[in-house]
Amino acid sequence: MKSMLHVLSGRSVAPAPVWLMRQAGRYLPEYRDLREKAGSFLNLVYNPELASEVTMQPIRRFGFNGAILFSDILVVPHGMGVDLKFEAGEGPKLKPVTTMEDIQKLNVANETYWPAVYETVTKTRKCLEQDGFQDTNLIGFAGGPWTVACYMVQGSAHDHDFDMVRTRAFGDPVFFTSLIDKITIATISYLKGQIQAGAEIIQIFDSWAGVAGGGLFDQYVLQPTQKIVAAIKQDFPDVPVIGFPRGAGNRLMAYAESTGVNAVQCDYTTNLVQLRRDLGRDIPVQGNLDPLALLAGGDALRIEIDHILKTMQGSPYIFNLGHGILPATPIQHVEQLVKQIRDVT
Ligand code: CP3
Repeated sequence: MKSMLHVLSGRSVAPAPVWLMRQAGRYLPEYRDLREKAGSFLNLVYNPELASEVTMQPIRRFGFNGAILFSDILVVPHGMGVDLKFEAGEGPKLKPVTTMEDIQKLNVANETYWPAVYETVTKTRKCLEQDGFQDTNLIGFAGGPWTVACYMVQGSAHDHDFDMVRTRAFGDPVFFTSLIDKITIATISYLKGQIQAGAEIIQIFDSWAGVAGGGLFDQYVLQPTQKIVAAIKQDFPDVPVIGFPRGAGNRLMAYAESTGVNAVQCDYTTNLVQLRRDLGRDIPVQGNLDPLALLAGGDALRIEIDHILKTMQGSPYIFNLGHGILPATPIQHVEQLVKQIRDVT
């Protein structure tokens, strides 16, 4: 069994399997080349030939144990019919969903964009096999419905607290519940499509889970995630799901216990010693290294990695960052990281 699947079944593996969030991206010159060739980020995402090549780039360089599909969480609202643009230096821009009529017009399945993503998955699986990456799992993903709704209602991540979105969620539960339900149905269909196409593991990125205050966390983070996990398990009981409620803090335990995910990805503010104690040894954990420690490199990086490996020794653990790798990260620092993790005997 491949190392990541081994860990996700609840066992400890030494050395720990490793991959990095946003491992395909601007810190790699070969990515910047293809990104330029494609013209725009979305052209790259919807071109199966180029997207599978981009997925493979960090695997060829570093031999990671996880290859994450090159796509974006905003492919779900895009497929649902929302206008989407990525402007240089600005981040994503969506046409905001503001009325019940807007919600009624949204699709829950998509025949234009999503099939290209599925084709990328199938192509990448073939590439991994042909190129001999026998211990690398292909990871499919989607955003958590709460995070996707945050982008759809606000139209961007301009306000990281999403004050307007939370006000609407508290004040207009009919609107917000309808939106979340529709995103949840679309996400289930999109993830099942990825699994059918060859994804071996699924990760759910709930990047703005941290701002879901009070009852919003239960209603819009825990409940829809639980529905997605149950729907996947019904059709594909052997495909593990990793959940990432970024910023959830002391609600990470409730997430791990109530959503049915096989493993939790934790951000860089999580105290691993405490998490390990609270979770017990059986729920696998992924993540935690601060991407800025990777950017800094040197002794600081060595010490941080050492601390994480010591804390997680003997537990089911997958090495990863606590958030995406930064574009300015030197490639040598990634090489240092992989070497240190794999030199453990
Ligand atoms: O390597 C991988 O991890 C796979 C690809 C991946 C991307 N986005 C590619 C991408 C994944 C898993 C994502 C997830 C994603 N996208 C999240 C969840 C994780 C997180 O960061 O919290 C979120 C919130 C998004 C939305 C998104 N997409 C933003 C906010 C941005 C702009 C920020 C930026 O760095 O420019 C994107 C664009 C994006 N998605 C890029 C990449 C490689 C950069 C686009 C470019 O090359 O111009």
